[in-house]
Amino acid sequence: MSHGSGCAIPGPDDGYALGATEQEYERLRRQAQVWAEATEMILRRAGVPKGARCLDIGSGPGEVMRQFRRLAGPSATVTGMDIDGVLGRESLRRLRDEEGGSFEFRELDIEAADRIPGGPYGVVFTRLVLLHLRDPVAAVRKMYEAVAPGGLLVVQDYDLRTWETLPSFEDGDLPRDVLMATLRAGGKEPLIGPKLPEIFRAAGVPEPAECRQSGGMSFRKDGGMEIGLGVLRSTLPAALRLGVVTQERAQRFFATMEERMRSDELLYQVAPTMVGAWVRKPR
Ligand SMILES: C[S@@+](CC[C@H](N)C(=O)[O-])C[C@H]1O[C@@H](n2cnc3c(N)ncnc32)[C@H](O)[C@@H]1O
Repeated sequence: MSHGSGCAIPGPDDGYALGATEQEYERLRRQAQVWAEATEMILRRAGVPKGARCLDIGSGPGEVMRQFRRLAGPSATVTGMDIDGVLGRESLRRLRDEEGGSFEFRELDIEAADRIPGGPYGVVFTRLVLLHLRDPVAAVRKMYEAVAPGGLLVVQDYDLRTWETLPSFEDGDLPRDVLMATLRAGGKEPLIGPKLPEIFRAAGVPEPAECRQSGGMSFRKDGGMEIGLGVLRSTLPAALRLGVVTQERAQRFFATMEERMRSDELLYQVAPTMVGAWVRKPR
């Protein structure tokens, strides 16, 4: 699967729903800013040690790798792994230029790999990746195997049910509905966040030490609504292929939103809930 090349998604049951375009990469960077605080909170609660070997699976734009470096200090080694080598290498260049320090990147499909290379790691982290996988349990098992004794597994993923545009209007929640339907049509589970304890159990991982939810609301002025619209833009090619939405319906939604964004009517979005869970591996 040539995911990193920006090619069309190869098959209805075998594709990353959000695609690989520059526009999507930029959306991921902006989305990472929105969730930076929630990620810092769960990492601080878990207690990332100074100098730890940190691994981010599905590191995408690399913004969590930047957070790791700040939390774990200059002696930490921070490795990102992602199926999208183009995005991963571009992010690595940015990180080395802007932060210096010890960053590494490795192209990896967590579903195809038998095991995660280069371990053990003091912290293994993943955010917003499990909902894109056909077998999230197997991925969590591999991640836990890569954690050193006494180290941490930290996972964050969405509960998409809370994502809503208000005041509501017909098809106002199309980005959420299309994303969920596209994931399901591709054999994925879009409601990973609330199921993390079940997924840990099925993967043979101890019950999380703690689960925390984070969320918020966004308005036109903070740009958060654009990120939501971008989800539909990025999901559309896969959604059209899978027949979960028509081009006409999507275009009608964009036109309505454009009009509403320009008007002075009240318009805002309740974010998806981010659920974070962490566990320490016994020594
Ligand atoms: C929604 S993005 C989240 C990026 C990053 N974790 C963040 O929260 O900012 C999902 C990322 O998972 C990566 N991904 C999807 N399927 C993957 C797989 N099978 N193995 C590794 N990475 C994968 C995508 O390329 C993308 O970078």
